[in-house]
Amino acid sequence: MSILYRPIGVLHTPFHEPAGMPIQPSGASGVCGTAELYPEFVAGLQDLAGFSYIILLYHFHRAPAPKLTVTPFLDTEARGIFATRAPARPNPIGLSIVRLLRCEGATLVLENVDMLDGTPLLDIKPYVPAFDGLTAERTGWLEAGERRVAQCRADERFGEP
Ligand SMILES: C[S@@+](CC[C@H](N)C(=O)[O-])C[C@H]1O[C@@H](n2cnc3c(N)ncnc32)[C@H](O)[C@@H]1O
Repeated sequence: MSILYRPIGVLHTPFHEPAGMPIQPSGASGVCGTAELYPEFVAGLQDLAGFSYIILLYHFHRAPAPKLTVTPFLDTEARGIFATRAPARPNPIGLSIVRLLRCEGATLVLENVDMLDGTPLLDIKPYVPAFDGLTAERTGWLEAGERRVAQCRADERFGEP
C-alpha cells in the first residue's frame, strides 16, 4: 500500500541549510517563523487561535536517503532510526510542538521553529497538556545527554549517511 498526502501549506523559517540550525524546538527558543496555509485549507484554522502551542507534522523534504540505523547528533553509537528524531526515516515525517503567537488569515505566526524554510506542512493539531504533557520515567539512550541535545544546534554531520 502506498499513501499519497497533499501538503496543506508551507513553513517559513530563518533556516536555509541544516548546518547550525536548532535540532529541536527547545533549542529554538524565540526563533520566529510562519505557516502559510493554502487557501482551500484556511477554514480549518477556525478555533485554533485559542491554543498556546500547536503540533506541526511536516515532510522532511531535504532528508537524506532513509536508513534504519543512524548515529545521532552528539552521539557516538548507531541507534535504530525509530529510537531517534533523525530525518533519514523510511517515511520522512517531522513533528514539532511550537508556540502559536497569532493567526493572521492564512498565516500562523510561530515561535520555536526547528525546520528548514520551505518545509511542506502536512497537518496541524492543538497541543493539549492533559493529552500530551506526559512525564516520562525513561528516555532510553538519550537519558544521559537529553538536556544538552535539546539545546544545541546541528552540525554538518547531522542526518547525513
Ligand atoms: C532532529 S530533526 C527534529 C525535527 C522535529 N522536531 C522532530 O522531532 O521530528 C531537526 C533537524 O532536521 C533537519 N531538518 C529540518 N527541516 C528539514 C527538512 N525540511 N528536510 C530535511 N531535514 C530537515 C535539520 O538538520 C534540523 O536540525
